[in-house]
Amino acid sequence: MPQTSLQPKQVELVEASYQRCAERPEFYTTFYELFLASDPRIPPMFAGTKFERQHRLLRHALGLLIIYAKRENPALLERIAVRHNRHDVGAPPELYPKFIDAMVDALERHDPGFTPELGDAWRRVMAPGVAYMQARY
Ligand code: HEM
Repeated sequence: MPQTSLQPKQVELVEASYQRCAERPEFYTTFYELFLASDPRIPPMFAGTKFERQHRLLRHALGLLIIYAKRENPALLERIAVRHNRHDVGAPPELYPKFIDAMVDALERHDPGFTPELGDAWRRVMAPGVAYMQARY
């Protein structure tokens, strides 16, 4: 039977993976390389970005996505969702799967504990927060 809901064990796997990767600058460098290369619409959006600051903000946001997966409190993601909506950054909902794929790819390269099972757990953990951001476009 296909799995439907997120398992507590999957959240634990993801939290441990986050601990291993979050402090590694090369994880964020790889992520943004892959994400920007994934669609021609993306690089111009980051033309003026200071990536050192961006890495720090993304680290924080990934932590929020994990917390959101455990309890869907919209207040957690409110600020980030507004920042990405059509009136600000304007991140098109259909580009979020590229974000997820680049993230899992970067994790595969930089998390020594990566397994296909962990990649699947990351996708499930990111899904609720991504759905919220897409809906707030
Ligand atoms: C769950 C998915 C995502 C997360 C967690 C995330 C996270 C963040 C965070 C934390 C910031 C910094 C906000 C600030 O300035 O205070 C940011 C900025 C930004 N994001 Fe995202 N993002 C996501 C998806 C996307 C997608 C899909 C796109 C584009 C297609 C995108 C494009 C941008 C751009 C252009 C900025 C502004 C960069 C700058 O200030 O120079 N993001 N994102």
